[in-house]
Amino acid sequence: MMTEHEADRIIQQALKPRRYEHTIRVVETADQLVERYGGDRKRIRLAAYLHDYAKYRDADEMRSRINSSPSIPDNLHEHQDELLHAFVGALLLKEECGVEDKAVLQMIASHTTGRAGMTLEEKILFLADYIEPGRTFAGADAARQAAEESLEAGCLQASSQMIQFLAGKQVSIYPASVEAYNDLIRQEQRRRISL
Ligand SMILES: [Fe+2]
Ligand SMILES: [Fe+2]
Repeated sequence: MMTEHEADRIIQQALKPRRYEHTIRVVETADQLVERYGGDRKRIRLAAYLHDYAKYRDADEMRSRINSSPSIPDNLHEHQDELLHAFVGALLLKEECGVEDKAVLQMIASHTTGRAGMTLEEKILFLADYIEPGRTFAGADAARQAAEESLEAGCLQASSQMIQFLAGKQVSIYPASVEAYNDLIRQEQRRRISL
């Protein structure tokens, strides 16, 4: 598996300084979540370093890359550009940097939209990206508070806020995001009943 040091070097070259700083905060936040909720620390840290690898790729290039890949979900090209970098990032990391680890690639692919049936590791990266201390948008604190309660509560808060934000702007919502939301609702209900 790629070392953290290698990942750090690759990502420093791929990102602008501000996005690199965000990346480091995501690594630190993910680490704190692992401390609390467990998970494969080594893989999570590696995925956190690499998660925004494709952030500055040209959107048209990413779209054509998606059209030629059978592993990429349907209709992704119909949705916001913001979603592309996660899926394409996983593809390009494999092709350009030799990242083969399926768990790491899966965490990166789902970090923006989430999906139903996220693993513990995917939930941690999804949430860490949303609540890292540099996030100042409305609702970031609510998600941080929910994250204290449980990992699923944190993810659910992030997921519901993202969906409300998109619906508020009247832009399309990628189906996997809605599926993630429904799945997290079920998980949270089960947790609350068992309390
Ligand atoms: Fe991202
Ligand atoms: Fe990010």
